[in-house]
Amino acid sequence: MNEEQRLASAQVNQPKPSNNKTEKDYSKYFEKVFTAPSLKDAKKRGKEEVKYHKDFAVDEQFLKMGEGRKFYIRTYGCQMNEHDTEVMAGIFMQLGYEPTEEIEKADVVLLNTCAIRENAENKVFGELGFLVKYKRKNPEMIIGVCGCMSQEESVVNKILKKYPHVDMIFGTHNIHRLPNILKEAYMSKEMVIEVWSKEGDVIENLPKQRLGSIKAWVNIMYGCDKFCTYCIVPYTRGKERSRRPEEIIAEVRELAAQGYQEIMLLGQNVNAYGKDFTDIEYRLGDLMDELSKIDIPRIRFTTSHPRDFDDHLIKVLAKGGNLLEHIHLPVQSGSNEVLKIMARKYTREHFLDLVARIKAAIPDVALTTDIIVGYPNETEEQFQETLDLYRKVGFEMAFTYIYSPREGTPAAKMVDNVPEDVKKERLHRLNAVVGEYSKAALKKLEGEVVEVLVEGSSKKRDDVLAGYTRKNKLVNFEGPVELVGEIVKVKVLEAKSYSLRGEFLEIVKR
Ligand code: 5AD
Ligand code: SF4
Repeated sequence: MNEEQRLASAQVNQPKPSNNKTEKDYSKYFEKVFTAPSLKDAKKRGKEEVKYHKDFAVDEQFLKMGEGRKFYIRTYGCQMNEHDTEVMAGIFMQLGYEPTEEIEKADVVLLNTCAIRENAENKVFGELGFLVKYKRKNPEMIIGVCGCMSQEESVVNKILKKYPHVDMIFGTHNIHRLPNILKEAYMSKEMVIEVWSKEGDVIENLPKQRLGSIKAWVNIMYGCDKFCTYCIVPYTRGKERSRRPEEIIAEVRELAAQGYQEIMLLGQNVNAYGKDFTDIEYRLGDLMDELSKIDIPRIRFTTSHPRDFDDHLIKVLAKGGNLLEHIHLPVQSGSNEVLKIMARKYTREHFLDLVARIKAAIPDVALTTDIIVGYPNETEEQFQETLDLYRKVGFEMAFTYIYSPREGTPAAKMVDNVPEDVKKERLHRLNAVVGEYSKAALKKLEGEVVEVLVEGSSKKRDDVLAGYTRKNKLVNFEGPVELVGEIVKVKVLEAKSYSLRGEFLEIVKR
């Protein structure tokens, strides 16, 4: 489906169902409309070519929509969502809205949601319940739900049934349609739902209202084709689509010219960057190589998948400079059996070999990871293999999770006989190892001089500054507030549990 066909079929006003409808009535209701989400459709991976659009412009008819009005966006989940919020804020500003930090002052409240685990979803439902109070006080308030949860039919179903004060729902593939959807929400008494189950084209010149002036996020690709069996992302974010290198390079150059000090390149699976190009052979290593020539002090990327991490990329990263010696490399489990049922498509041996190759090329590298414990039927031995792998690699930090079944994914259908308390206890044991290694990595830095990008000062004291090292370690030290935004040398005096305390030496000359 191309952009025009999609627009033609897109917008449908959903009548708010009356309260006496049953669950069954809702499912019938969804069979008839194609703008409601479908995980089944979202799973399909077509061969259609991705179209690139550079001509985004807010239609004149919408330009005054926000005059005298305010918007508030609450963001849940990952950096990709944070960045989508920056884009939506940019669109709101083009429409004439002003941002506000106070919900009660907002004319439009948007929840940009995350679907990765059940507790992320529960937070959103809790907040939606809470918003009724504001809507009662101000019935003109528009309440919207967007982001990954909107892509799930079960969520849309639940909102229709239990949260009729929601005015609009849209998904991850059509945030550029925000002006149209908003207008519809103002005009309609019914809940406006516009969710595309299949990903859209890549739209290049969307406005962005960036949250910071020191660090910036830059998308390099959208979607994921990996379909790890536990993960909802390939369904909510669609197929892998890479942005063209020249667009990314131009954006990073522009950010460098604006004075940004650090760029975080974003993608669900950045190591697959460029795989979808049919006209050029160009991968993440090539991109990093070009970006390394831009005059900006720091460039990071997230998130990696071990399977596609190639030697060319390692070679490029080994050059250092503005490419930082920190790699976030989610392993998920140290057991081959578990990795297999997770469909991670690598083995423990492959992972350890990759780590050995990275360490040989970048001896000073800091590796961090993501781990899931309590996968269906995970045994104590399999969990022990995860602990063992953690120690073998010597990760410096990890995000750890208890497996959370996501409706529509293959893992959600697996029978699971691991009791909840065993899962919790495994997480606890894993976190103890994570803490031990993170502390040791910090301890090693005592007495060393590190480079810190100063991001801000303490709320209580202007002269207590905080920032991150190249390897993403938090450092606190005393110094003048004018150092915020600079890269400085700091001598590490003391390693705390999760941060370092240091002494300011000098600004790094560039
Ligand atoms: N349950 C628990 N953790 C999950 N993750 C992704 N899906 C799930 C799930 N269903 C974790 C993975 C991933 C990180 C972003 O979230 O570790 O790397
Ligand atoms: Fe999810 Fe990452 Fe696996 Fe993609 S690679 S399915 S985003 S865990």
